[in-house]
Amino acid sequence: MIKIGIIGAGRIGKVHGEGVTYGVKNAVVTAIADPYLKEEITEWATGLGIKACYKDYRNILEDPEIDAVMICSSTDTHADISIEAIRAGKHVFCEKPISQDLNKIKEVMEELKKSNVKFQVGFNRRFDHNFQAVKNAVEVGKVGDIHLIRITARDPQAPPIEYVKSSGGMFLDMTIHDFDMACFLSGSQVTEVYAAGAALVNPDIAGVGDIDTAVITMKMANGALAVIDNSRQAVYGYDQRAEVFGSKGQIAVGNDALSTAILSTADGVTGEKPLYFFLERYMQSFSREVSEFTDAIEKDAEVPVDIEAGLQPILIAVAAKKSLDENRPVKISEIIF
Ligand SMILES: NC(=O)c1ccc[n+]([C@@H]2O[C@H](COP(=O)([O-])OP(=O)(O)OC[C@H]3O[C@@H](n4cnc5c(N)ncnc54)[C@H](O)[C@@H]3O)[C@@H](O)[C@H]2O)c1
Repeated sequence: MIKIGIIGAGRIGKVHGEGVTYGVKNAVVTAIADPYLKEEITEWATGLGIKACYKDYRNILEDPEIDAVMICSSTDTHADISIEAIRAGKHVFCEKPISQDLNKIKEVMEELKKSNVKFQVGFNRRFDHNFQAVKNAVEVGKVGDIHLIRITARDPQAPPIEYVKSSGGMFLDMTIHDFDMACFLSGSQVTEVYAAGAALVNPDIAGVGDIDTAVITMKMANGALAVIDNSRQAVYGYDQRAEVFGSKGQIAVGNDALSTAILSTADGVTGEKPLYFFLERYMQSFSREVSEFTDAIEKDAEVPVDIEAGLQPILIAVAAKKSLDENRPVKISEIIF
């Protein structure tokens, strides 16, 4: 059994605590750490059988029984905690993004080179059953040469303004998953990005220098074109769709719902709304990504999303922000790393 310590017991820390406990066969969470350790968190941890709750994550790093850490704390802490964890000889699963600061990512990479630990980045959508079906079909050539990729990702509700302020902006916080998906589905890299954005959901978001609505067009290294559309607020729920179109055809996935029941009456035809948000929609993918991480540790194999793969969407996000600010297409090669 691989023993895991979770650092950060907020939204995603709890998702992973439950995902590992109920969905990962060869791992167990033995400790969590969060500086704002409230009674509600310790009760939640006890309910899952997690033995130790700390305020300081260093207690986890100092525990020789713990094999791996999952870094689920606020984004600005990821890189420094990653470096400390690697130095402590722990395998690291780091939530996205690795950092908003490219120099910090370099430091993590340097530290990794000196060690033998595994390092996986939390791009969970790669492990979603829908997106994997698209990827598999594309990989075996069912759609032929890829010409177009379309990704729609809209959240049900904009985050609080305090979150927006420290999120690094919508491209680094939210669209980053879609940038990763464009690379994953196409098996290629983004070479150029052109972004348009606006704050149409909440003007306060513009007040802190961010956007909540965007359309991003991209050129891929394999010649394909890709387009992402984002909104921080879709009133009908979490809207997560993708399409890959090519010389032999097209493959597309829609939203998951609680049921596929359709009600038809004299007033019209209605179905279920999409599952509400990422907790509901992607729970299975969170367990699957960690299962692959712990399998890689057990078998001493490659992790499925390594630090290089985790870096690409960050570079694209930085280029997209530059494109938005300068109102022009930006090549990824313009971003100095
Ligand atoms: N993969 C995904 O789909 C996904 C979804 C949500 C969040 N995330 C990422 O996970 C991270 C956390 O997001 P969240 O929504 O859970 O935020 P959150 O604010 O709900 O939780 C963050 C937690 O980290 C704790 N924390 C802060 N500094 C810490 C430290 N030094 N040591 C230990 N804990 C510390 C905070 O007290 C808080 O409880 C972000 O980087 C976010 O981008 C990823």
